[in-house]
Amino acid sequence: MDAYEALVTRVSPKELGEPAPDDATLCKIVAAALRAPDHGRLRPWRFIAIRGEGRKRLGGVLAAALNRRDPNAGAELERERQKPLRAPLVLVAAVHITPSPKIPRVEQILAAGAAAQNILLACHALGYGAVWKTGAAAYDASVKEALGLEAADEIAGFLYIGTPAAAPKAPAPLDLAGFLKVWPDE
Ligand SMILES: Cc1cc2nc3c(=O)[nH]c(=O)nc-3n(C[C@H](O)[C@H](O)[C@H](O)COP(=O)(O)O)c2cc1C
Repeated sequence: MDAYEALVTRVSPKELGEPAPDDATLCKIVAAALRAPDHGRLRPWRFIAIRGEGRKRLGGVLAAALNRRDPNAGAELERERQKPLRAPLVLVAAVHITPSPKIPRVEQILAAGAAAQNILLACHALGYGAVWKTGAAAYDASVKEALGLEAADEIAGFLYIGTPAAAPKAPAPLDLAGFLKVWPDE
């Protein structure tokens, strides 16, 4: 698949199964992330790969965090616990913020977001599927701590990675005119 085709055909598959990329392929995918643009070369992106039983531990962390946020969560707790099992590989895309008078925090988060998008695109180009999710867990201090992140760090997303269960539908085309203007309008 050429680069432009990968850009315009990427979608978030509904269901992801085995196989996930193996360790060597994951390194190739993360290498694509490291080519994201990055003001000041701060390299703010961090990735945490969670496979196998690790996903169950992550499920426990997510459920405990939800229970703390909402002691009346009830049946939602089990749903939260099962979330990491939706794909054989969960790649946590985190942002390590370097305090800087020149590079604002938002630019460091944008660079890490661009890196995360490169992960999605590299997965797609190599025949895998990937879905970017956040939810309240991504902003929960106890989840960050359990993953070994610092309090000032951010979780940009949980990237669910595996093999699409079905051939993805072609994305619905959007009307370009709603998103692209020429200025000044003469
Ligand atoms: C920062 C970010 C966070 C997201 N979080 C969620 C989420 O928690 N739940 C969800 O269903 N979709 C989430 N999405 C959207 C999906 O990843 C996906 O892009 C969307 O369903 C549209 O599908 P498509 O990627 O096939 O166009 C998020 C996207 C971004 C960029």
